[in-house]
Amino acid sequence: MTTADYKKEIERLKKEKNAVILGHYYQIDEIQALSDFVGDSLALAQEAQRTDASIIVFCGVHFMAETAKILNPKRKVILPDVNASCSLAESCSGADLKKFKEAHPDHIVVSYVNCSAEVKAESDLICTSGNAEKLVNALPKDQKIIFAPDKNLGGYINRQTGRNMLLWNGVCTVHDALEAENILKLKAENPDALVIAHPECNSAVLAVSDFVGSTKAMLGYIKSSEKKKFIVATESGILYEMKKNNPDKKFLTVPSGENCACTDCAYMKMNTLEKLYLCLRDERPEIILSDDIIERASKPIVKMLEMSKELGIIK
Ligand code: 13P
Ligand code: SF4
Repeated sequence: MTTADYKKEIERLKKEKNAVILGHYYQIDEIQALSDFVGDSLALAQEAQRTDASIIVFCGVHFMAETAKILNPKRKVILPDVNASCSLAESCSGADLKKFKEAHPDHIVVSYVNCSAEVKAESDLICTSGNAEKLVNALPKDQKIIFAPDKNLGGYINRQTGRNMLLWNGVCTVHDALEAENILKLKAENPDALVIAHPECNSAVLAVSDFVGSTKAMLGYIKSSEKKKFIVATESGILYEMKKNNPDKKFLTVPSGENCACTDCAYMKMNTLEKLYLCLRDERPEIILSDDIIERASKPIVKMLEMSKELGIIK
């Protein structure tokens, strides 16, 4: 089948089955173009909660599809590739987090949404990069907190809020591999460019950045900026939306290390048009979670969405 055939078939199956395609900004351009809704983790979780489609096709990684299922247990949630994982989700198991909690019984657990359903079930509050700082700030000042699983995002929130959260030792291998030295080299060659970075980047990268924010926050920042050139320290998929919204602006990507010049998340890029077509056609792979996990994991996610509304972060 040609690319055009896949696109036609995906559109046809979507209508026939009353399915909605939710796509993350890190998906390949063709999948973003076919998605009914494209967003960052927070917006996608909200959209998953709102939808009345019979089937949610989640084009992102596994933990995102799980989040959609947790928020919508009655609906069928499918994803193009069940192996589309995430280094952060893999760095922390529910059992290990439970042990860590037992060793620190006076702490609550705030977990970044990039974690498994089991980890969410062990957490008191979920956050995304788009709301983490405000949510943590809204917690009582003397509240002791374990932050899992991203030590870079957790470290950034500690510095922003003056907290001393205990950090799980996980990283996003894509963002963590970006090097401040490479950014400074690019900046020296392009002194008119602003550096924008995702808070999953290491602290050296964040220290040389002009703006730090979630995927959505970066998009908003570029749109409202008078500047015409940006050095983008995040996953490459976002360039599709950045270029689409700002045809007059230029975007430079950061080479990620000596042996790799790639800012692609290998997990996100596992989803292809062919796999999307097959998953819609066969309605699998499907996310299946136990009632117990859904019940326990939904509490901290719903709490996140409620707090985000109260704090004016989302509508
Ligand atoms: P956001 O969509 O929250 O910006 O997160 C980026 C990311 O790494 C998703 O896996
Ligand atoms: Fe996970 Fe990083 Fe890929 Fe996002 S970009 S899915 S955090 S490995």
